[in-house]
Amino acid sequence: MKVGIVGAGMVGSSAGYALALMGIASEIVLVDQNSALALAQAEDIAHAVPFMSSTVVNAGGYRDLEGCGVVILAAGVSQKPGETRLELLGRNALVFHAVLREVLPVVPDAIFLIASNPVDIMTQITTRLSGIAPQRVIGSGTILDTARFRSLVGRHLGISPQSVHAYVLGEHGDSEVLAWSAARAGSVALSSFAAQVGSPLTETVRAGIDDGVRNAAYKIIKGKGSTYYGIGAGLARIVKAIGGDQRDVLTVSIATPEVAGVNDVALSIPRVVGAGGVVVDLFPDLEEAEYLALNRSASLLKQQADAVSI
Ligand code: LAC
Repeated sequence: MKVGIVGAGMVGSSAGYALALMGIASEIVLVDQNSALALAQAEDIAHAVPFMSSTVVNAGGYRDLEGCGVVILAAGVSQKPGETRLELLGRNALVFHAVLREVLPVVPDAIFLIASNPVDIMTQITTRLSGIAPQRVIGSGTILDTARFRSLVGRHLGISPQSVHAYVLGEHGDSEVLAWSAARAGSVALSSFAAQVGSPLTETVRAGIDDGVRNAAYKIIKGKGSTYYGIGAGLARIVKAIGGDQRDVLTVSIATPEVAGVNDVALSIPRVVGAGGVVVDLFPDLEEAEYLALNRSASLLKQQADAVSI
């Protein structure tokens, strides 16, 4: 499958690097208003390909996106130290306005994968501006937060993150919800497994894992200026589910008619992802406190999205 990436900065190029090394895309086209950057990133990624795959990697203009099955939108600004994702909205909404005007006529039937933050609202904006079915406008959402959650729980319990079935819901941001009550280690409830292996999930342990998930980006940004490897791999993972029609359950964000009592909002819940984009939503069973937190997250996102004049 041919994959387009608009925005050849660190997130877009890391996604391209992951796609190329994993051999998920047959061809990748990097597009950026800074054409020299797009060309340099494409050439650098292309030099890695011979070690791992046979992906064709090029840079080009918007018209070179023709034939792409998936287009990743990673254009715009990223957080500066101490900046929240929501504070990027005004600048990135303007960028998306301009980008979509160029991209939509070239690839009207593609699946759009939104990476730019605040990703949930950027997903909602793209859906509204494009008129494309929500199932084909997919925000990376909390796919990275869920990976962080599973990684920290797995480390505490001494098991592979792949065997931890736990999800982060809602905003990819400060109001996100770690769904502890629905979490499983294999097929065993997390709290039960933790007691079995003598690593109880005390309030202190839970608070430490929550902080490690919720504030991961702030800590990384403080240390190196931005995050890109984690989200780059997460984007490649979503493309893999689409390209292979894998129907994987991933916490991605799409415009949703109603979640936790809030109408017309884009946020993350577990969803089945396949060739056509999002195939079906899986609304998790939550404890009351988790449901109320998800309602707060959804309400915050809806308020921000409805305030954007597009
Ligand atoms: C992060 C960015 C992708 O959480 O929002 O690393």
